[in-house]
Amino acid sequence: MNFYSRKLIKPEDLNPNHTLFGGSLLRWIDEEAAIFAICQLNTDKLVTKFISEINFINSARAGDIIEMGMEVLMFGRTSITFKCVVRNKFTKENILTIDKIVFVHVDENGRPKPHGVTTVTEPDHEDESAGNTIILN
Ligand SMILES: CC(C)(COP(=O)(O)OP(=O)(O)OC[C@H]1O[C@@H](n2cnc3c(N)ncnc32)[C@H](O)[C@@H]1OP(=O)(O)O)[C@@H](O)C(=O)NCCC(=O)NCCS
Repeated sequence: MNFYSRKLIKPEDLNPNHTLFGGSLLRWIDEEAAIFAICQLNTDKLVTKFISEINFINSARAGDIIEMGMEVLMFGRTSITFKCVVRNKFTKENILTIDKIVFVHVDENGRPKPHGVTTVTEPDHEDESAGNTIILN
């Protein structure tokens, strides 16, 4: 699994218990997952279809640095399925796991459309992937 973005936990990210607020973490994961799916399928015409159970394993505190990891489980015809782990960058203690996130490639009418991708794009090669340019509207 590759770990992509890192976040420094700040006071505004905390809940009343002074630990990381779940909503902040989910917002970061949602963005990270979208970027991951876009880079893997080389298109931004994607929608979130499914997110499995989210297991909050350990909390994080202000000053902690967390890192978010994604790993492709499966390329479908129109979909991509991957898992997500968030962990403390230094202790490597898991903070959250999501076993299954599914994005679907859609056409201009929002209907599923084959994406044609069958192999993982490694982070070092994202800029060289087929088509090269993603035009974000
Ligand atoms: C995504 C959407 C177009 C899919 O439509 P659909 O009628 O379910 O399409 P299909 O049944 O053909 O499934 C499309 C793909 O999703 C997969 N899929 C559908 N339901 C699934 C589920 N519950 N779990 C995992 N994968 C699922 C299918 O296996 C298929 O993958 P494949 O083509 O790679 O084999 C439609 O459900 C939709 O528009 N959902 C709203 C998306 C959205 O707005 N997301 C943002 C929420 S804020």
